[in-house]
Amino acid sequence: MEVAKKAAAESAVEFIKPGMIVGLGTGTTAYWAIQALGKKVANGLEVKAVASSVASEEEAKKVGIQIVSFHSFSSIDIYIDGADEIDGEKNLIKGGGGALLREKILAFNSKEFIVIADESKVVKQLGKFHLPLEVVPFAQPLTMRQIAALGCKPSLRLKNNTPFITDNGNYIIDCDFTSIASVAELNIQLHLIPGVVETGLFLYTMVAKVIIGKEDGTVRLL
Ligand code: 5RP
Repeated sequence: MEVAKKAAAESAVEFIKPGMIVGLGTGTTAYWAIQALGKKVANGLEVKAVASSVASEEEAKKVGIQIVSFHSFSSIDIYIDGADEIDGEKNLIKGGGGALLREKILAFNSKEFIVIADESKVVKQLGKFHLPLEVVPFAQPLTMRQIAALGCKPSLRLKNNTPFITDNGNYIIDCDFTSIASVAELNIQLHLIPGVVETGLFLYTMVAKVIIGKEDGTVRLL
């Protein structure tokens, strides 16, 4: 699995050019992109990066990548990140690591969003992976009832038996829809519920490329 993730990540990093503002993803696949970019920076590549999570920001700093804040640019040249599920149209579920709000903002504001993954993430239809939603904590029970009314089994994400808190101070609700027939429609319905800050549904319109790494170290484009 790591060979495949690393292969996809290294292939994506080849698209980064000098002077770019780079969005850094979160998770075990994005980790390899941060390592690969760190090597390029050590060899003289000059870029600035913005991270989709505190964890990725710390990892990037460790390998010498210059981090800038969300306030210091008007668009991102390239954003490289993993996904939890990818369908044939390139719609995604993201947010397994709880970073979906910053990830969606980076994807939406990027000139090019490159998704990196191994074969296990490719599915016919989204929904087996429980869809993460970021919600405001104070209204969580009410919001969760409204989410359930859309036909899923929602559960509050926990860490050490207490609610998982995102980098933005919110909760995550993981929703078991079994399968999602209309990604765009569900995304709108979820956004209409007050208290839902963001969904882990990333529509194909945001995605420029999907690079799938294989266990033999080669890659294919979806
Ligand atoms: C984090 C994400 C990740 O991109 C997603 O969970 C995939 O992670 P990994 O590469 O570790 O499988 O959306 O919020």
